[in-house]
Amino acid sequence: LNRFEAARHVLDGTAREPQREQGCAFAPSNIALCKYWGKRNEELNLPVTSSLSISLGDLGAHTTVKPAEKDRLILNGRELAANDKISERAFAFIDLFRTGTALRLEIDSTINIPVAAGVASSAAGFAALTLALDDLFGWNLAPRQLSILARMGSGSAARSITPGFMLWHAGNDEQGMDSYAEPIQETWPTLRIGLVLLCEGEKAIGSREAMKRTRGTSALYQAWPRKVYEDITAVRHAIETRDIDILGRTAESNALAMHATMLDSWPPVLYWQAETIEVLRKVWALREEDLSLYITMDAGPNVKLLFTEADASAVSEAFPNIQIVTPFANGDPD
Ligand code: DP6
Repeated sequence: LNRFEAARHVLDGTAREPQREQGCAFAPSNIALCKYWGKRNEELNLPVTSSLSISLGDLGAHTTVKPAEKDRLILNGRELAANDKISERAFAFIDLFRTGTALRLEIDSTINIPVAAGVASSAAGFAALTLALDDLFGWNLAPRQLSILARMGSGSAARSITPGFMLWHAGNDEQGMDSYAEPIQETWPTLRIGLVLLCEGEKAIGSREAMKRTRGTSALYQAWPRKVYEDITAVRHAIETRDIDILGRTAESNALAMHATMLDSWPPVLYWQAETIEVLRKVWALREEDLSLYITMDAGPNVKLLFTEADASAVSEAFPNIQIVTPFANGDPD
């Protein structure tokens, strides 16, 4: 079953013509605490395992989409060339929803995540685009269906449809109709995410290719699904009891295990730079001094810190070059 059929299945006869002048939406970026690494279906971005993330509050993508003379993608105020990889991916995604029409669309997207933080913008980008299309076409789809559509743009975008903690179910349906993310109904107002701003090193291989290589060549990868399953259980418990040490320890171990499977691939995949290791050692030293401070990392050299408000000033002092995100900035009724 291909992407077009899967999209048709979700839309099930709803409009494929604009119902208004333009569609607008915001979607937050997200960082996985238990990672998505490896696909069981590459065309539909169906994962081998479930994954669990936290969204980054107001850091994300604001997107407007409207009919135009030709397809255009404007990213942070600059129009990208039609043959740019990002444009090609965005227009291939839009093709899923405009079969048989001559409709051309202009996408205008502003992403407010600092590039040096190394937070993938594709998750927020594809989620905001999906929500903006829902607005333009008047689909009124439920979050679950929107998550399925966003997933076909980029897997991690499935987790950016709504804010907060998100659990993306791997599912086992071949069409992926049970592979969507849904919110975990818990907030944690004192939780903080630190984005350590490092220079991007030379561009290593993309995550799409790297996860394919890992799944295909790493013997360690066999142990990965069970590890993620156990880590998700532990993180869910940590969220319920607001236990930063269990949350942090589990997320850090999960990220390091993912990187271990990459190192075990052939040819090996190593995203780390010298600064990455410096940050890790510094975090481990601060933990010796009783800070509840942990790391997570994705397909790049950057490090993201996990901690709570109680340690926020110590963390900013240790990392002057940090951007601190409050995922639940709107507080908590209880
Ligand atoms: C390391 O969602 O960018 O950030 O589905 O191929 O678009 P595609 O991959 P993508 O991969 C994200 C990988 C990760 C871990 C995670 O976010 O769970």
